[in-house]
Amino acid sequence: MNRRFYSGLLMWSSIVLLIFVLIAGYKEFTPEWKKYQAKYKELYMKNAKDETIKAKAKAFKIELQQIYVDKLNSADRCISCHIGVENPMMAKEAVPYKTHSGNYLDKHPIARFGCTSCHGGQGRVTTTKDAHAVEHDAHYDYPIVPVKYIQSSCAQCHDYNMLEKNGADKVVKGRKLFNEKGCRGCHKVDGVGGVLGKVLDGIGSQPRIYFPMRHIKGEATQYTWHKEHFLDPRALVPESEMKVILNEEEADALATYVLTITSTEMPREYRRIRPSLEAELDGDALYKKYCVACHTAGKESYFDEIFNRTIPAIMNPAFLRIADNKFLKSSVSEGREGTQMTSWKPSAAGLSEQDIDKIVGYIAKERPAGGAPRFNFAGFKTDTKRGETLYNIRCALCHGKDGKGGAGFLGINLRNPVTQSADPEFLAVTVRDGRTGTPMVPFGKAGVGLSEQDMADIVSYVKILSQSKIAAKN
Ligand code: HEC
Ligand code: HEC
Ligand code: HEC
Ligand code: HEC
Ligand code: HEC
Ligand code: HEC
Repeated sequence: MNRRFYSGLLMWSSIVLLIFVLIAGYKEFTPEWKKYQAKYKELYMKNAKDETIKAKAKAFKIELQQIYVDKLNSADRCISCHIGVENPMMAKEAVPYKTHSGNYLDKHPIARFGCTSCHGGQGRVTTTKDAHAVEHDAHYDYPIVPVKYIQSSCAQCHDYNMLEKNGADKVVKGRKLFNEKGCRGCHKVDGVGGVLGKVLDGIGSQPRIYFPMRHIKGEATQYTWHKEHFLDPRALVPESEMKVILNEEEADALATYVLTITSTEMPREYRRIRPSLEAELDGDALYKKYCVACHTAGKESYFDEIFNRTIPAIMNPAFLRIADNKFLKSSVSEGREGTQMTSWKPSAAGLSEQDIDKIVGYIAKERPAGGAPRFNFAGFKTDTKRGETLYNIRCALCHGKDGKGGAGFLGINLRNPVTQSADPEFLAVTVRDGRTGTPMVPFGKAGVGLSEQDMADIVSYVKILSQSKIAAKN
């Protein structure tokens, strides 16, 4: 029994091996696209109604197809598989046999546009895996653009007025969100914007390997990365200081928009971008573009968990009552050293003087009439030593002994050059009256009840905080 058993085993294993070898050989010598074209031919013959078309279908030759576009430097072989895109009889078939949707190919003849000008991906390769390059182990860095983000390509050649009129609403919406959600508060584009985040010029051209994919949940592509990052930056970049609040639909629209910010340009003859006169932005629009992400509506101060510091309420009437435009302007222009509050002047974040004035005008528009009663700081003979002792008792628990605030302290930074050079009268009134609705309580008669002399002494010390040697926080 043994001999027969072993020779049988040998025979069967040889057959199995042979089958494997044949399959491997078939795969090697029968490219994927041939299979699709064979099936296409079958469908074509089935769908052909009259004899002339049937004859045409019968004559269809299975061969590698390519659209070479000199001006775009592209050689797209996508149609080796997507062979039916121009055949109206394939409207009901599945991808890749299917007729192309919409009238995109009428407006953009494939001989001139190829496929990758809109879809991205690898035009020259002929396996689905590498042409689409969506799987993380594909060899290429530029996967095809998911159809849901494809309007990012339209904007490479068309302007937004045109796209809006032609229903490319997603990319139009993404651009609006980009300007209204304060993304520029932390990101420069074209030289203007905050500095906490990276410069976004060229972000739409970044290859997949540029993005940290360790924690990604969906496909490891730049497209999915953007979307997941917009929904929850810290899920992908745990130490991120980015601030965004977006829903799914908004995240998709914004992903579409950021992909338009590329470092490459389509050849001139392909671009239909009419220079539109950028409408001048008013203070409201500028505030949304640059400030809203951190300061929100400006009415309430809040302790920011990500920055680990308080973001002051810059449109709080109690603040505006005593902060004049000069103070506001220097706060915006100079920023607040050592905090996330960027310097917005032309040589830093790049806002023009006029734009800063417009923003200041916008912030100050609800300033209550009639200022606060004067403190008359100049009328007091002050004692900074006594001021220091009182400061350490009354103020250090929020502003820190060194006056830097932040790092878990509720109070804001008092050591920065703008606050240090502010009028002592402004500081004294701030201490006396506090800022209603914020942790900064009134220290005068209406609140804690310090004497005017106490407050004057404290202010004289606050004025020299930046010169004090105390570096360590306690
Ligand atoms: C080897 C054959 C093959 C090649 C080459 C190929 N594709 Fe595909 N493509 C397919 C198949 C099969 C599908 C349907 C199944 C799938 O999505 O993987 C498809 C699906 C698609 C889809 C639809 C995806 C979706 O989300 O609905 C798009 C868009 C697409 N291909 C574009 C391209 C572009 C652009 C190229 C050239 C860069 C290309 N394909 C090259 C076979 C191919
Ligand atoms: C002018 C831009 C443009 C060009 C050029 C273009 N497409 Fe598309 N393609 C689109 C858009 C937009 C969609 C999404 C259509 C929709 O959802 O209505 C799409 C969808 C697709 C799909 C998904 C299935 C479908 O039909 O909805 C495939 C597959 C596809 N295109 C393949 C190709 C191939 C292959 C080429 C080159 C022969 C090509 N496309 C050229 C814009 C383009
Ligand atoms: C590579 C550049 C390029 C891309 C990408 C592109 N287009 Fe076009 N599009 C053109 C050009 C050029 C024309 C004009 C065609 C001509 O010269 O006849 C055109 C024409 C059109 C037209 C017809 C408008 C008219 O005035 O006749 C529409 C609508 C359109 N495109 C929409 C889109 C949409 C939507 C997308 C994205 C899915 C897109 N285009 C992607 C370059 C492009
Ligand atoms: C409070 C500051 C802040 C705001 C507001 C902000 N970002 Fe960011 N952003 C960052 C920081 C910091 C990073 C780097 C860490 C990270 O990748 O999350 C970043 C990273 C990015 C990246 C990846 C850049 C790269 O090169 O890796 C993109 C894209 C991006 N932000 C877009 C946006 C968009 C769009 C908005 C508006 C909805 C926005 N950001 C709002 C701070 C911000
Ligand atoms: C990245 C977040 C961020 C952005 C964007 C930002 N700020 Fe600030 N801002 C802060 C923080 C944090 C502080 C408090 C700093 C401190 O602790 O002193 C601050 C302080 C201020 C102050 C001082 C308030 C006071 O109580 O003295 C003004 C005024 C101000 N910001 C205006 C603006 C304007 C106008 C813009 C837009 C051009 C802007 N900020 C953009 C984070 C930001
Ligand atoms: C309970 C916490 C707390 C205490 C105690 C406190 N502050 Fe404040 N202080 C704040 C906060 C929070 C702000 C920012 C308020 C806002 O949102 O506008 C602030 C703002 C200020 C400002 C405005 C700075 C600027 O640039 O606009 C000054 C000045 C100031 N505090 C001084 C003091 C002094 C002096 C004391 C002690 C007498 C003191 N604070 C005690 C929390 C506190």
